[in-house]
Amino acid sequence: MALMKAVRGTRDLLPPETELWNRVERTACDVFARYGFGEIRTPIFEDTQLFARGVGEETDIVSKEMYTWEDRARAQSEKSQSLTLRPENTAGVVRAYIEHKLAETGLLQKLYYIGPQFRRERPQKGRYRQFFQIGAEVIGPPSAGSESPLRDAEVLEMLATLLDALGIAGWTLELNSVGSATDRPRYVQALREALIPVAASLCDDCQRRAVTNPLRVLDCKVPEDQPVIETLPKIADFLDDASRAHFAAVRSALDACGVPYHVNPRLVRGLDYYTRTTFEFTHGGLGAQNALLGGGRYDGLSEMLGGPRAPGIGFAIGADRLVLTLQAMDSAARGDEALLDVYVAPIGEAQQNAALQLARELRRQGLRVELGDGSFRIKKAFEMADKRARSIILLGEDELQSGQLTVKTFASGEQTKIARDEIGDYLCRAMRVGEQN
Ligand code: HAM
Repeated sequence: MALMKAVRGTRDLLPPETELWNRVERTACDVFARYGFGEIRTPIFEDTQLFARGVGEETDIVSKEMYTWEDRARAQSEKSQSLTLRPENTAGVVRAYIEHKLAETGLLQKLYYIGPQFRRERPQKGRYRQFFQIGAEVIGPPSAGSESPLRDAEVLEMLATLLDALGIAGWTLELNSVGSATDRPRYVQALREALIPVAASLCDDCQRRAVTNPLRVLDCKVPEDQPVIETLPKIADFLDDASRAHFAAVRSALDACGVPYHVNPRLVRGLDYYTRTTFEFTHGGLGAQNALLGGGRYDGLSEMLGGPRAPGIGFAIGADRLVLTLQAMDSAARGDEALLDVYVAPIGEAQQNAALQLARELRRQGLRVELGDGSFRIKKAFEMADKRARSIILLGEDELQSGQLTVKTFASGEQTKIARDEIGDYLCRAMRVGEQN
């Protein structure tokens, strides 16, 4: 029988890698809480129309990458419905904002999410068909300050804090403004016209984009195309006064709190809902898929989905890419993170229950404990312990009778006898010292 494998573009995440995922998610939750965010969980499939209207029919995501199916009616009273696995979470969050009438609170909603998204893209390093995003949205009525450039700066400053807290060095914040809903069509028109005389000298993809979606020409990575693309009109020259002032205020707030950024006039992003501020954090270690995260403002999205006026700004981090970056940066730390604190090894069958009881007490003290395998051979216990944990406790007949247990810490090589009642405190201290070194 043919071997069953995970579907192309999807993958299993196993320990010890999942340790790193847990750390990333925990750190994100801690940081988000400090900025007043609460968690939202929306369904992983939605009505297809939500993405068609929210993300935009003409985008790559909606036109070619969605997993969509016709959900058959189960009863006469039901209609069949076109459903789609979410390719992103912003549209779902704004739908929930409208559906639960969160506008009526009059408050700014600060919501974060962690979960899988689905896009039928060509899989490669850092690009999967099921991938994970850690994202957040700030949305609310204008009276709650949702339009303020200070919100943009706060979100960007929070992201810089999160990446620093995770120990990710060497990121770049790319920043741009795509203007208001009326600026963008004027710019697209100018771009379309500027492309007519030069399109023939561009790559095949750009020749197609020049007609179907001229903004995407700006994403082209083909080296030969770059000199021509540099001569195309820049969106900065098409911003109205209000968008220009907004962008200046965001930059000045970032300057004031010392968050470095690089203005990239070509950063227009691939989703239709963006207005004004757009951004990406990139990292050189990622190769072609170098965007760690992306986001921006979407002041008209709620109205596009039939809701009240509710300007907003948000981002989504590609968690797979964040983990890849951390793995590449610090393989030594990664190995150590997977180790448990202690391995409790019974030396004979008679000590098994006592070992289980000791493990239970140590775990209740917060230590991470593995229990011996039942072979009762001291040499094997040491070998196993060395692979799984940072220390070992031997539990033989003598130890049980005397109440003095043998403990060995692998990093220092120190072996000592400790009274059973004190062993938990001893290990807690030893592990803390180990972590500091
Ligand atoms: P996005 O740029 O499409 O934006 O995706 C955000 C991030 O998700 C990307 O920067 C990348 O790190 C990760 N990502 C996207 N596609 C893949 C993939 N196939 N494999 C692995 N990682 C991927 C959005 O999704 C917007 N909803 C962000 C947002 C929130 N804007 C405002 N609020």
